[in-house]
Amino acid sequence: MNSIKNRRILDVLNGIPVDKTPVWIMRQAGRYLPEYKKTRATAGSFLDLCKTPELASEVTIQPINRFDLDAAIIFSDILTIPDAMGLDLKFEDNRGPYFDNPLDNINDVSSLSDGNLDSLNYVAEAIVQTKNKLNNEVPLIGFSGSPWTLSTYMVEGAATKEFRKIRSIVFNNPEMLNKLTKKLINSISEYLIMQAKAGADILMIFDSWGGLLNTDNYIHFSLNPMKEIIRNLRKNKFTKDMPIILFTKGGGGWLDQISKSGCNGIGLDWTTNISKARKITGDNICLQGNLDPCALHGTEEAIKASGEKVIDDYGFGHRHIFNLGHGIDQYVNPDNLKILIDHVKEYSKKYHKN
Ligand code: CP3
Repeated sequence: MNSIKNRRILDVLNGIPVDKTPVWIMRQAGRYLPEYKKTRATAGSFLDLCKTPELASEVTIQPINRFDLDAAIIFSDILTIPDAMGLDLKFEDNRGPYFDNPLDNINDVSSLSDGNLDSLNYVAEAIVQTKNKLNNEVPLIGFSGSPWTLSTYMVEGAATKEFRKIRSIVFNNPEMLNKLTKKLINSISEYLIMQAKAGADILMIFDSWGGLLNTDNYIHFSLNPMKEIIRNLRKNKFTKDMPIILFTKGGGGWLDQISKSGCNGIGLDWTTNISKARKITGDNICLQGNLDPCALHGTEEAIKASGEKVIDDYGFGHRHIFNLGHGIDQYVNPDNLKILIDHVKEYSKKYHKN
């Protein structure tokens, strides 16, 4: 169907043997790269960068030009959906993204729009332009936040320390959260289909705050809604066969349930040992991760050793995508990332000889 040259990640997601472990890095387009900072300055602000397809596609391919990566991820943010639903996303340096009028009650949820994604056309256009610039060298990952993770931002207004408001609502106003979740399932499903139509080759759902919940509430408010999205995607002709990766940060205790969600790959944070994870999930599913992002602040030897440890822990087998356990931080020296990527590529070859 598509003629992508470097198919390692697609192969691993589909269970096809590869010559070495494929690599991409969460938040690979970002502030640790001087060229990103330059383009961001041209755009004027983070949100203008997200909303200007020419510049968003430019920063998407910057890490591809610099490193030996096996996939690009479209430059955007998970909070574009709440913005399109009417919450008016704002961004300040040193503060990050926020909403002035977060959701307080069920009426606030009722007044949100869902289903009309016309205002997110800039993401589709950024994908089209990125596909042109990538020239079929590597696949492009599209993404969304999970319903639960988007709900946390929509209710809290920003990333907060304790998430007391949303975690209270789980217990004192579940009707409100159920209603919000339902709207988000619709919007996210449409949004991911839109990204696939525009040219995304793989879809990933970021459930960055799933780990805040107890098991029953994780299943109800996070995993089941993600499953419903997967079911919607499997029913649509553009997305029915698309590889889907779920990443719940803090989800190490729920791998068995996540592996039965219908996804093709599971993102692991660095708190779970990948060898133990593999024993739970089995080889019918792909694992992605899971180096501690702070390992990139180590010496050259330490960086290489920590990359080797993840590869050794996974061991022989073709269903591993190397990544960090969460996004790369802005203070990492890009040269250190190059050391890691090149070393993992070389070192992992021995596990792929048949
Ligand atoms: O991975 C990539 O290269 C693609 C781009 C991407 C961004 N955000 C760009 C970004 C992706 C996949 C995201 C997802 C995202 N956004 C998540 C899920 C992943 C995760 O980290 O758990 C979340 C929770 C957000 C919300 C968000 N966006 C926060 C909390 C922040 C502020 C934190 C920070 O790092 O400053 C952002 C801003 C943001 N999103 C930046 C980038 C490159 C930094 C903005 C800048 O240029 O100043």
